Amino acid sequence: MELRDTIRRRRMVRAYDPDRPVPAEVVDLLLEHAVRAPSAGFSQGWDFLVLERPEDRDLFWRSTTGGADEPDGWLRGLMSAPLLVVCLSDKDAYLDRYAEPDKGWTDRDEARWPVPYWDVDTGMAALLMLLTAVDEGLGSCFFGVPGDRQAAFREAFGIPENRSPVGVVSVGYRAPDRRSPSLERGRREPEEVAHSGRFGEPYRRGRSSEGS
Ligand SMILES: Cc1cc2nc3c(=O)[nH]c(=O)nc-3n(C[C@H](O)[C@H](O)[C@H](O)COP(=O)(O)O)c2cc1C
Repeated sequence: MELRDTIRRRRMVRAYDPDRPVPAEVVDLLLEHAVRAPSAGFSQGWDFLVLERPEDRDLFWRSTTGGADEPDGWLRGLMSAPLLVVCLSDKDAYLDRYAEPDKGWTDRDEARWPVPYWDVDTGMAALLMLLTAVDEGLGSCFFGVPGDRQAAFREAFGIPENRSPVGVVSVGYRAPDRRSPSLERGRREPEEVAHSGRFGEPYRRGRSSEGS
């Protein structure tokens, strides 16, 4: 598939065919593409927790939801995913990398990081997995681990203290799902978000066809 088609076709899919596992070679490919993501200083401060076995996925859902209430439609849909990849960021990998001689930030001062690149880079890796799923004819969704369930999730899967769950990529063959109500907001088009030369100066598309 052309990259432009993959990008345009990508949308968050929140319901899957529970009886169709993700082929092992696709799981491999998702991870092979994830590690192609760019990273500051090539720190590659990410880890991916791959949950394929039903008992592992059950543990994920129990630990992140508390398992008490009947799941709503949204949750039931996501719970049908045969594959979950939890994307973890590793801040220390960046502080360590930038303390190396070619970078020289030996104080490991976090004030040097106005943007948490460990989370940014892990998010980029997640996006590559979302796009790979589309390219392979599958659906995927990115969602978070709720703040009040982080401790239970960490405990359940033995996540080290210095790793942070940035989000989860669910993957599977698509089943019919409900459009997210958020989409009613409409997409912000380039003219609305792009600025030409100075902030606030309009950017216009279609200039390449002008004056020729
Ligand atoms: C950082 C991030 C967190 C998100 N969290 C959730 C989530 O918790 N639940 C969910 O259903 N969708 C989640 N989404 C998906 C967004 O709702 C979705 O990307 C947005 O509505 C645009 O739809 P589209 O991706 O299908 O184009 C998240 C997306 C991002 C980038």
